[in-house]
Amino acid sequence: MSSFVRPYRDRDLAALLQLWGRSGPARGGTDLLTVDDGVDVLHVDGAVCVVADDDGAIVGLALGLAAGAIGWILRVVVAPEGSENDLTPRLLDELEARLAEIGTRKLIGLVVRDETVHARLIERGYAEARDVLCMQRPVPTSLATPSALGELGGRMVEPGLWESLKGLKDAKEIIERRVILPLAEPQLAARHAVSPPSAVVLFGPPGTGKTTFAKGIASRVAWPFVEIQPSQLAAEGPERQAELLSQTFDRIFDLPSAVVFVDEVEDLASKRDEDRRVNVSVTNEFLKQIPRFRDVPHHLLACATNWISRLDSAFLRPGRFDYVLPVAPPDPEARASIWRRYVEEITEEEVDIDTLVGATEFFTPADIEFAARKAAQRAFEREHFQGAGKRAVMEDFLGAIKETRPTLSADLVEEFNADTASFARY
Ligand SMILES: Nc1ncnc2c1ncn2[C@@H]1O[C@H](COP(=O)(O)OP(=O)(O)OP(=O)(O)O)[C@@H](O)[C@H]1O
Ligand SMILES: [Mg+2]
Repeated sequence: MSSFVRPYRDRDLAALLQLWGRSGPARGGTDLLTVDDGVDVLHVDGAVCVVADDDGAIVGLALGLAAGAIGWILRVVVAPEGSENDLTPRLLDELEARLAEIGTRKLIGLVVRDETVHARLIERGYAEARDVLCMQRPVPTSLATPSALGELGGRMVEPGLWESLKGLKDAKEIIERRVILPLAEPQLAARHAVSPPSAVVLFGPPGTGKTTFAKGIASRVAWPFVEIQPSQLAAEGPERQAELLSQTFDRIFDLPSAVVFVDEVEDLASKRDEDRRVNVSVTNEFLKQIPRFRDVPHHLLACATNWISRLDSAFLRPGRFDYVLPVAPPDPEARASIWRRYVEEITEEEVDIDTLVGATEFFTPADIEFAARKAAQRAFEREHFQGAGKRAVMEDFLGAIKETRPTLSADLVEEFNADTASFARY
């Protein structure tokens, strides 16, 4: 079979995508340039692409990019059926010639070690740049679209919040595996027809960390966090509210990525119409928007509620939400790590964490934070009024705990466990 190498034409796109897609990620699983990146580059000034045409079938491609005097060799793909009489040199001949034609004086190739292209480039006189590594990372959305994000009230969450979330082991593991992994390994996920979830519901008693958890997801995937509060849409009449909601979503979907957080979702989707704090047209508009999360990549909807049993069961159905995740009250281990975090910040005095954990059985993370701040305040006031120099000591913590009313109770925990049995899905 004889194929000839010619410049890429727009109508080659489908065949080119197919060939590139078929070749999969570069060896080692990492792909510097995904198919999407490739298509993006293909259409910029300075892009040079040549294809091997075998009687109308595209059996090879080489993509380069001229940036002034530098020509980048970005990707060479050859179909297995075209590799017998290795097409790589011919594709490179043509690509290099075309890059030279538009002023390139130096060529730099991005290749995977030990792949065919690597060997071919060495044969052609390319030298490996010793100690040079190819580093990559996505541009944070905050840099890419600061104004659009700001107008939506969104922001980037500091990296590391996810790691700093204590306890919640089960929920964290589910998110790690089912949300983050498919995003981190898109090619592997696609191979197994796994698509990352697009909507989740978080439920649990007040102060257990639902909001923090949603922000943690945003920090883990490095997407901006945008909160929408349907009940706070300007009071301009129900029709206008629905319209505003739809406009807000349009703008959110224009962002390259986002974790969209809706708190107190019972305001929108309570079983009983009279418990909803918004007009039915707003609820309908919201329901209409949920499927869009499935169609627009890199957007996750996270809804939170304290009262999962009050939600309309149709609202929770699998087609809408991928997972319904319980955010449990912290167990002793989780309380210990939350206490440790605050104690370390507040004092270097000897504090017995186990005793604090035992004294705070029905405390939520929010209650623990409140008590810890109170202990710090006691030490601060003592030094101010009495001049004694110690930071918070054990007594301050125990005193603060006594003065803090726990959010949880045996009844609430029981209700949460029952809700988990009936509603949790993951
Ligand atoms: N797992 C955790 N580890 C450490 N701190 C936590 C954790 N979960 C929550 N917190 C802290 O507890 C506080 C309350 O958490 P958050 O506001 O996320 O709770 P919530 O479930 O959204 O509450 P609400 O139902 O009232 O909206 C926050 O200050 C947060 O920093
Ligand atoms: Mg909250």
